[in-house]
Amino acid sequence: MTRADGEPAFGVYIHWPFCLSKCPYCDFNSHVRHVAIDEQRYLRAFVREIATTAERAPGREVTSIFLGGGTPSLMQPSTVGGILEAIGKHWRVASDVEVSMEANPTSVEATRFRGYRAAGVNRVSLGVQALDDISLKSLGRMHSAQEAMDAVAIARSIFERYSFDLIYARPNQTPAMWQAELQKAIAEAAEHLSLYQLTIEAETPFFGLHAAGKLQTPDEATARALYDVTQEVCAAQGLPSYEISNHARAGAECRHNLLYWRGQEYAGIGPGAHGRLDINGLRHAIATEKRPETWLMRVEACGHGVVVDDRLNSEERADEFLLMGLRLAEGIDPRRYQALSGRALDPVRIAMLREEGAIMVDPSGRLRVTQSGFPLLDAVVADLAA
Ligand SMILES: C[S@@+](CC[C@H](N)C(=O)[O-])C[C@H]1O[C@@H](n2cnc3c(N)ncnc32)[C@H](O)[C@@H]1O
Ligand code: SF4
Repeated sequence: MTRADGEPAFGVYIHWPFCLSKCPYCDFNSHVRHVAIDEQRYLRAFVREIATTAERAPGREVTSIFLGGGTPSLMQPSTVGGILEAIGKHWRVASDVEVSMEANPTSVEATRFRGYRAAGVNRVSLGVQALDDISLKSLGRMHSAQEAMDAVAIARSIFERYSFDLIYARPNQTPAMWQAELQKAIAEAAEHLSLYQLTIEAETPFFGLHAAGKLQTPDEATARALYDVTQEVCAAQGLPSYEISNHARAGAECRHNLLYWRGQEYAGIGPGAHGRLDINGLRHAIATEKRPETWLMRVEACGHGVVVDDRLNSEERADEFLLMGLRLAEGIDPRRYQALSGRALDPVRIAMLREEGAIMVDPSGRLRVTQSGFPLLDAVVADLAA
C-alpha cells in the first residue's frame, strides 16, 4: 500500500550502467562494453559507496529500493543479493519495503527472475516499449513482441507486483493504432503501466535522423490526441494516471518514484546516480561520476563516486518541489511550498491559471494541474515559480 504524502520515506536508487546494445532514442547513462564486466569488482564498489553514503545519512529507515539502468537485469542474482544485503547492513529496512528492478525483455529468463526474487526483489518493471515487431525494430530493440509478452508472463508468475513500459507518439502512429495497442497492453497489465511519449533527446541517433527529416514524430495536434487517448483508455480501465507518464490502480503506485515527485529523501548509488539528502538541515543535490570505469576507480580510491554535491538554497528547494510535485495527479500542498521558500505562491497567478483551466485547487487546498494543463506543465510551473 502506498504511503500518503508527508509520511516519512527514504529511498535508495542503484544504477547499473550497462546494456547489451544502445537504443537509438535513449540518453540514459547506459554503456555497451565488449569485454566482460567484472561484476564482483562492481559489487564491492556498490557496497563501499552504500557504506559511505550511510555514514553521511545515518539512521534512516529505507522504504523503497530501485535498481535501474542501463539494464540491471544483466546482473547476476547474487550481485543483486549482495547490494540488498549491504543496504540492510547500513540502514534499517522497513518490513514492507518495495524493491523494484528494471528488466529488459532481451535479458530475461525465468531462472534469473526467481533468483532476483529470492534475493529480495518484489517488483519488476519491464521495458516492453511496443507491442508489434515493426515498431520494436524501428526503436532498435533486440526483442520481439512475443518475447516481451513471454517476459511479462514470467514476471506475473514470479512477482506479486510488476509493471511494463511502452513508448508512444512513435513515427506514423495514429491515435486509433495507439488505442488498440493500449487495450492490448492493459489486458496484460496488472496494476501499473508506464507510458512515455517518445522524446527526441540531443546527441542520440534519433536526434540526427529527426533533424535530417528522416524520422518524423507526430505533429503537436496528433501528439495531443495520443496523450488524450492514453488518459481516457487507462482511466476507463481502472488505471488512471497518478503522474504524467505513470498509471496505476489505487494503492499500486510505484512507491519509489512517488518519493522523487513528493520531494522526499533518497540516496543515489552507482555511476551517474542522483540523490537528495538532508544533511544538517540542508537539502543536498548529489550526483556521482557517470563513466562506469572512472566511477569504479573513484570509489576504490576514496569510498564514493560523488562529483556534484550542491546545497540547495530555499528557493531552489521550493522550485524543485513545485516542478516535481505538479507532475503528480495529487498535486502539491501550497503550504509546504511556503514553508520551503518562505513565501506564498502568487494568488494572482494562481487565479489566472485557474481561469485558463490549467490548474485547480481541491477542497483540501491542494493545487493540481488539470488534465488539459498537463501537456503544458513546463509553462505552468514556470509561471507559478516566477
Ligand atoms: C531507464 S530506461 C531502462 C529500461 C530498460 N533498460 C529497457 O530499455 O527495457 C526506462 C524507460 O525509459 C523509457 N525511455 C527511454 N528513453 C526514452 C525516450 N527518448 N523517450 C521516451 N521514453 C524513453 C523507456 O520506456 C524505458 O523503458
Ligand atoms: S532504453 Fe534501456 S536497453 Fe535501451 S539503451 Fe536505454 S537503458 Fe539500455
